[in-house]
Amino acid sequence: MAPVDDARRLYLDLLKAAVRNSIYRDEVPRPSPREREFAEALRATLREKYGARAPDWSAETLHAVLEANRPVAHTLAELAQVDNVLSCVETVLADDVPGDLIETGVFRGGQTILMRGILKAYGVTDRRVFVADSFQGLPAPKLNIDDAIAHDVLDSVAHFAISADRVRDNFRRYGLLDEQVCFLEGWFCDTLPHAPISKIAVMRLDGDYYESTRDALTSLYGKLSVGGFAIIDDYGLPLGCRQAVDEFRAEQGIREPLRAVDAQTVFWRREQ
Ligand SMILES: C[S@@+](CC[C@H](N)C(=O)[O-])C[C@H]1O[C@@H](n2cnc3c(N)ncnc32)[C@H](O)[C@@H]1O
Repeated sequence: MAPVDDARRLYLDLLKAAVRNSIYRDEVPRPSPREREFAEALRATLREKYGARAPDWSAETLHAVLEANRPVAHTLAELAQVDNVLSCVETVLADDVPGDLIETGVFRGGQTILMRGILKAYGVTDRRVFVADSFQGLPAPKLNIDDAIAHDVLDSVAHFAISADRVRDNFRRYGLLDEQVCFLEGWFCDTLPHAPISKIAVMRLDGDYYESTRDALTSLYGKLSVGGFAIIDDYGLPLGCRQAVDEFRAEQGIREPLRAVDAQTVFWRREQ
């Protein structure tokens, strides 16, 4: 490998570790005893409130919720999920698939910081990274019972509310806030239909709920280039996301198979 490739790989590996805070975070067994206790208490509350309809949120899934209480990592993503973003973006660059990159539902911004870092590492100046979020947390869900239950659970972490200025500051800390980063601030149903994007090469949807996922797919999928990637973060979780994706794929006749990143996340590459 040429030294420049080595340096790029080292930078991107370090960036992945930095956004996940896997370098400095205190290593605790996952899920920790505290998380198991929390999971048990929460399951009991949900059973009381929703009876047989209560989902059996595993301690591992709840771990992700608690992770949001740790004010350090810039993404909730597991290693496989940041590796997937890196591999999709590197593929569209290598194959010259036109378009910008977008994540809908960014929380502290880590995955979009990684996207910007990848463009920087490859010297790409003609693609932008779109950072779409309400920056006031998840909306109250109306159409899906799993989302309603999750909304109760996520009360304890303020539904991932974080201000756009905090996310901009996170980008700045990596030296990655510039004119190639575009914030779309507001509810997806208001911002995405008019987003100033003509072509998308990678779209990563991480809005958790039925409406949030449906709104993102409806506004953005038509702009996804052939050869581009659609990544769905929450498909494997007990949330309305999966219903929105299944409905949209059926309506649009999308036949490209879903590929698993891990038990939670899926993606496909657009072929037509
Ligand atoms: C689980 S967090 C995203 C995690 C993030 N991708 C990461 O890497 O850590 C979900 C985010 O989606 C946002 N969100 C969900 N539905 C939304 C909607 N309809 N409009 C705007 N933002 C939304 C929330 O504000 C929250 O920041």
